[in-house]
Amino acid sequence: MLSTQQRAARSSFFLVFVLLVLATTITRNVEGHVRLECPPPLSGKTGEKIGPCDVSTDDGLLQSFPLQANALNTVTWLESISHPGAPVRFALSREGGGDSNGGEAATGFETCLLLDHIPHDALSRPTYRNESSWHRSSITLWIPDVQCERCYLQLISVMSDAAHGVPIDTKCAYRANTNNVIEIAETPESDFPACPAVYHSCSPVSIDGTIPRNDMDVCNTTEFEDQLGWPLTPRDNPDLYEHSIYYNRGDVGLYSTTDATLRFVGSPLTDATCTNTKYCDPDVSFEEILAIPDAAAYISLEGSCASVVKTKVEAYVPPAAAAVDSTINSSTSSSARTLTQLMIPATTATLTLLLMILFLGK
Ligand SMILES: *[C@@H]1O[C@H](CO)[C@@H](O)[C@H](O)[C@H]1NC(C)=O
Ligand SMILES: *[C@@H]1O[C@H](CO)[C@@H](O)[C@H](O)[C@H]1NC(C)=O
Ligand SMILES: *[C@@H]1O[C@H](CO)[C@@H](O)[C@H](O)[C@H]1NC(C)=O
Repeated sequence: MLSTQQRAARSSFFLVFVLLVLATTITRNVEGHVRLECPPPLSGKTGEKIGPCDVSTDDGLLQSFPLQANALNTVTWLESISHPGAPVRFALSREGGGDSNGGEAATGFETCLLLDHIPHDALSRPTYRNESSWHRSSITLWIPDVQCERCYLQLISVMSDAAHGVPIDTKCAYRANTNNVIEIAETPESDFPACPAVYHSCSPVSIDGTIPRNDMDVCNTTEFEDQLGWPLTPRDNPDLYEHSIYYNRGDVGLYSTTDATLRFVGSPLTDATCTNTKYCDPDVSFEEILAIPDAAAYISLEGSCASVVKTKVEAYVPPAAAAVDSTINSSTSSSARTLTQLMIPATTATLTLLLMILFLGK
């Protein structure tokens, strides 16, 4: 027979164990999807659903990344959890002033779309817990003759499958969240329900053109598409490519494995060929509708982010830590980093011990 004390000890051990398992599961289930890579985003977050940016206030630590006006600018992004057929859209805010989520800057995104319906790479198979495995894609944007000191390049990624509330054979419309944004320009009204799950990521950028961003009420997205020779436009196919309206798993692509550029566009995924929500083997499910010409402007590698496409994917480094790294010498900074890494398990162990003492003391 066990003594009461032994029983108490056993049950508290059990409780602590359960708590630890719970804690681990909760951290593992962090929703993840996509973030900008270059230009660098305000945070390393891939799962921000509310938007319009990935953080609510821009602390100003990250320098504005220069983009060229009247020019092609390659950009890259990373996927942390793959979602077949989920498109990406780029937009440009108004002049910032430090507030990426609310206020003046954020009012501009819905009236300045740079490019929409950028296909999802069918080959994307990242492992969420290993940031080096996150999947890179790239596209080259046309940046118009705009001038801003610190505006925000926004990437949104729209979950368009049934598991995320967009039933097969239906469409959803992206509706910017209007709760925390003053006087946001609403996404044009449509008959389609709002897309329930959309991820947001923003990079502060400076652009060296002549027309101040805040003097442009509405950008001419058609003009940008023409500059790029972009094939996925509402004019070409209003059923599939209306701006900010997305068909169930409708944006499928195949990208180059060597330089992350778009190579083929496929027709929407169907349940006949794939029902998996994380990966659809292109050998089985990819139906080519377009091969991208090598000379297409939107896959040309241009601007400061172009060289990134051939580098190894690395974990996000917060701007504060990056600044510290460059001012103190490497041996100090690496030991500082190891220290924070050690502190996490140490804290967990201390908490466990405290909990055990509490339960045993009863
Ligand atoms: C993380 O992913 C990279 C790139 O795919 C791979 O080389 C590396 O071995 C992975 N690390 C772990 C711990 O699995
Ligand atoms: C937008 O650009 C297109 C193509 O360059 C042009 O045909 C159209 O007239 C422009 N629209 C506006 C409102 O300026
Ligand atoms: C880097 O740190 C080492 C030891 O902490 C020190 O001896 C060395 O002078 C430092 N180097 C610089 C450039 O500060």
